[in-house]
Amino acid sequence: MRVVRCAACTRVLHEGRTQTVFGTGNRQADWLIIGEAPGADEDRQGEPFVGRAGLLLNEMLLAAGYRREQVYIANILKCRPPNNRNPHADEVQCCHGYLQQQIDLIQPRLILAVGGIAAHNLLGTDGPVGKLRGTVHHYGDRQIPLVVTYHPAYLLRSPLEKRKVWADLQFARRIFNSTGRDI
Ligand code: URA
Repeated sequence: MRVVRCAACTRVLHEGRTQTVFGTGNRQADWLIIGEAPGADEDRQGEPFVGRAGLLLNEMLLAAGYRREQVYIANILKCRPPNNRNPHADEVQCCHGYLQQQIDLIQPRLILAVGGIAAHNLLGTDGPVGKLRGTVHHYGDRQIPLVVTYHPAYLLRSPLEKRKVWADLQFARRIFNSTGRDI
């Protein structure tokens, strides 16, 4: 895959990475989960969401009725930003083609954006997650239903917010079921 050797971004994220982290899961998945960017664990292992936040993401998915292998998991950025800083707009722009290819290939029937960075970049907005959750958005030409929830790393810091995330997952499930075929 071309992304393995990618050196496109102007801020040279490729110089600091161990490897690119493209995505993982079922390429025929109905649900596509999109996070922010690889962290240290993901950079080492080459797979998104494998650290503590990843374990919590697995639990979140189970709350929605899915095992990790049944969905597809990707990030806005395919390389780890230094010290896990937020992605810059130009990095997101450089990486966007890869995410768009993933969306085109998988053709998910629901996108779950976890965290503000994913939500803002997919929806072209900068509202707080607290305002973006609880309503169905749509992504791209195919108007794929998109639901926003908190990032699992945020839940690790604020476990009392878990209740809201569980509600978001039930909401996503209802949206998905109301738009047709289930897995
Ligand atoms: N946080 C993310 O947004 N993505 C990962 O892959 C890991 C942590």
